[in-house]
Amino acid sequence: NVLILDFGSQYTQLIARRVRELNIFCEIFPYNHFPDDLSSYKAVILSGSPFSTRADDAPHPDLSQIRGKMPLLAVCYGAQYLAHFNGGEVGASSTREYGRANLSFIKEDEAFFADVPMNSQVWMSHSDTIKKLPTGAVKLASTHDVENAAYKIEGETTYAIQFHPEVYHSTDGKKMLENFLVKIAQVPQNFTPNAFVDEIVAELKEKIGNDKVVLGLSGGVDSTVAAVLLNKAIGDNLYCIFVNNGLLRKKEFENVLHQYKDMGLNVKGVDAGDRFLGQLEGISDPETKRKTIGRVFIEVFDDEAHLLTDVKWLAQGTIYPDVIESVSVKGPSATIKSHHNVGGLPDFMKLKIVEPLRMLFKDEVRRVGKTLGIDPELLGRHPFPGPGLSIRILGDITKEKVRILQEVDAVFIDGLKSWGLYDKVWQAGAILLPVDSVGVMGDERTYEKVVALRAVESTDGMTADWVHLPYEFLMKVSNDIINKVKGVNRVVYDISSKPPATIEWE
Ligand code: XMP
Repeated sequence: NVLILDFGSQYTQLIARRVRELNIFCEIFPYNHFPDDLSSYKAVILSGSPFSTRADDAPHPDLSQIRGKMPLLAVCYGAQYLAHFNGGEVGASSTREYGRANLSFIKEDEAFFADVPMNSQVWMSHSDTIKKLPTGAVKLASTHDVENAAYKIEGETTYAIQFHPEVYHSTDGKKMLENFLVKIAQVPQNFTPNAFVDEIVAELKEKIGNDKVVLGLSGGVDSTVAAVLLNKAIGDNLYCIFVNNGLLRKKEFENVLHQYKDMGLNVKGVDAGDRFLGQLEGISDPETKRKTIGRVFIEVFDDEAHLLTDVKWLAQGTIYPDVIESVSVKGPSATIKSHHNVGGLPDFMKLKIVEPLRMLFKDEVRRVGKTLGIDPELLGRHPFPGPGLSIRILGDITKEKVRILQEVDAVFIDGLKSWGLYDKVWQAGAILLPVDSVGVMGDERTYEKVVALRAVESTDGMTADWVHLPYEFLMKVSNDIINKVKGVNRVVYDISSKPPATIEWE
């Protein structure tokens, strides 16, 4: 188990992912809220930071229980912090040190750099530099512009590096992390999907006992994997509720419900489409749509949860990025849960919360899902927004518009699948525009809907680019949509990136 202390760097999550890729479990804690009991940690990594360690308001945590007592790797800001307060000197660099650099000196026979070749590319991102090493330090590496690119403290397992080993552009960064964690700190590489499943199932059994648990399934990867894990731990004491809000993809409710039953889940499908669409009538504003759907979902879920007796727990598919977000360095207030207004909450929200995936990144959830034997097609599904097609129907929502968009979306998605393009796309869908355009079919003039197709590549949805789908594919799909979907006479393709556009149109 490795502890990563976060000083607010944009790359902290990447450090965790690289460590996990080595099959080593790690946890991120904000530098100002780390655990008192460090006995279960085998090594500590200090992250980078947007701060200058010379600033008064910069993070200056007490590391006396860590430094010299366990293996420590300080990255970027961390390296400067160790130098600044231990007899070294940190100052503004004379040249900007951003982007690629190459190691021009590596100390011989140094375990940290084992199998790292001279000239190895590393990624720099700092405006301060270490002008003088701290007391007891030995220089391990330099680049052309950065004399003190890496050092260690004699007599300790303390290592410090100015560059970022976690980013893709540090070619041997993962090797260095492996050298530090495996060769130097001797952390076992035993965090595998199988080990995770065994451990979490035992933990869930122990924690929940014979209590009943309710869980809302969405058809997405996270809630599905959470359900299968819980089902493995407590069997039919897990009550799953899958709500059809009437805004899912064509036949999705029936298909996914069927799949869930085949997986042996104790699941109830609640077809509340009319209730949602009734409440959405006449609403065009995107935020009001989202809020309405959120509210109706809570009402429906609460009604269903009331039909169950003696439920003690609410299970959620929360994953690690959400957890880190809520305890981030930037938001100390987020560490305090604001649940004082419990009286006003729906009953199910008063349940105890269980989150089996709260320690996993998305790709790890998929790997665990695979280990659990979940259908790869389900695990490989594109993300789909909670408010569903409502935010892809610009303007107000009617049953007829939902039908049109479901048909269009189905032609597009089926087309991507049959052309082998689905897995190359991160997310795809269709948008129904609030304009009618003139067309001609046979000898008739038509005045019908325009749909936009959107397909993007992304890793996390934060930034995205449009996918260069083959013209032949776009031609075929456009033709199929106009011929098969009554009410549509024009198809356009969205070629905007995020930023400045967003993935969804609302
Ligand atoms: P945007 O449009 O912000 O979308 O670029 C980024 C990702 O978030 C999804 N999205 C949502 N997901 N509720 C959700 O559960 C929402 O209200 C919502 N809005 C956008 C979107 O599909 C994309 O994956």
